This record gives sequence, C-alpha cells and structure tokens, in this order.
Amino acid sequence: MRKNIVAGNWKMNTTVPEGVALAKEVSDCLAGFKANCDVVICVPFTHLVPVCGAIDQAVLGLGAENCADHKSGAYTGEVSAAMVASTGAKYVILGHSERRQYYGETSETLREKVALALENGLTPIFCIGEVLEERENGSYNEVVKKQIEDGLFNRSAEDFGKIILAYEPVWAIGTGKTATADQAEDMHAHIRKTIADKYGKEVADNTSILYGGSCKPSNAAELFAKPDVDGGLIGGASLKAADFMGIVKAF
Ligand code: PGA
Repeated sequence: MRKNIVAGNWKMNTTVPEGVALAKEVSDCLAGFKANCDVVICVPFTHLVPVCGAIDQAVLGLGAENCADHKSGAYTGEVSAAMVASTGAKYVILGHSERRQYYGETSETLREKVALALENGLTPIFCIGEVLEERENGSYNEVVKKQIEDGLFNRSAEDFGKIILAYEPVWAIGTGKTATADQAEDMHAHIRKTIADKYGKEVADNTSILYGGSCKPSNAAELFAKPDVDGGLIGGASLKAADFMGIVKAF
C-alpha cells in the first residue's frame, strides 16, 4: 500500500550553517519519536552534502528541489540528477509551480527531468496544481489532468510506481489560504482516478499523493484524515523544526 509522507520544501531559504542546524534538529526530533509516516526534507543544492552528513537518513530522507533536464555538459549553472544522487540525496522535487512560473519549465523539460531522476535512482516528487483563475473558472480538474498526462504518462507503469505526486493549488502556496480538506480530497480522488484510468487500480492505489499549500500544524490533521491525501509538501512551515514536527505528528 502507498506510504504516508511529509516532505519539506525549503525553497531558497537558509545559509548552509543555518540549514545544517535545522536539518540536524529535525533529524534529532525524529530519532526520539516513532513517526507514522516517511519524513523528507528537500533543500538547496549547496546544502545537500553537509545536510547529508548531519542527518540520520534512516529517519529523515533527503532531496533536492530541482535537477537539470540534461545529463551533463555545457549547461553553466545547472545541477544534474547524477550530481544530486552522488550527494546521498534520494528525492527530487520536479515541476514545482515556482519553477513552471518563474523559470519557464514545461511538460517537455519535465519529462526529461523525470527520466534522468529515475535513471539515477532518485524518487521524483512531481508537482501539479492549478492557478487561481483556473480554480475560479472551473477548469482545474482538466488542468491538473493535463499536467499529469503531459509530464508523466510517457512512463511505464513500473516507472510511474516510483513517483510521488504533490497537488499544490498555486493560489494556496505561501498565501496562508489553504484548500479546504474537501477541496483537497476531491482533487486527490480525481488524480487517483486519472492514474487508474491509465495504469490500473493497483498502481493508482499505490501512488502517494501529497497536498501542498499553506499546510501547517493547525490544519494538517484535517487534510491528512482524507482518504486520498497521503501527506504534505510543506514550504514555510518546514523552516521551523517545531512546526514541521507538528505536521509530522498529525499522522
Ligand atoms: P507553503 O509552500 O507551504 O509555504 O504554502 C508549499 C510549497 O510550495 O511546496
């Protein structure tokens, strides 16, 4: 059966010393507590090596927030999936709305990134979600379905089984405006049906679908109680160990 997962997305926050201290604090909290879910932190590239050395990956998984859409070569400033994997990280967030919106990531580039992540043994946390206008004009189910089809449906069922999905309505990210638990559940059920129609019920039932967007200790339990919500991708609230642990404890 699918796993429950709470994953932090630090975004462009913390210096290396601050990040190492935060990661160690989270790892230490988890060492003394039997979490009912997998816990992961996704950190800036610069932090991967030192954070890997500071945490116990038996209790806290480590991931990057992005990787390149090329294998290697003359791509100044890019970081490849192989480089990420060589740090000891096991996960990579792909297709976050901030990457799609500010860095022009398309389904085409994301297909390359997913392929390279999988080739290098990384677990993609693949983000999807509609913007406010699409929520308001009622096209959100179609928009999210198309993001999944265009970004992921070229994969085999075996590959698809290695991917974690994160539904993040863009209007809820960093805005303090969370989707209601019912809105999240409706979308997650729609996503699971979309997967089932393509790969069958077993693959769909085994796929972890996380909710992201202003998830915090005060609303996590209600969201995670929904049958198709398998955890969260946590931005702002992952930057304080106590808040992040509060969300982990919601399971
Ligand atoms: P937020 O971000 O929790 O700060 O809304 C979530 C995300 O963007 O992954």
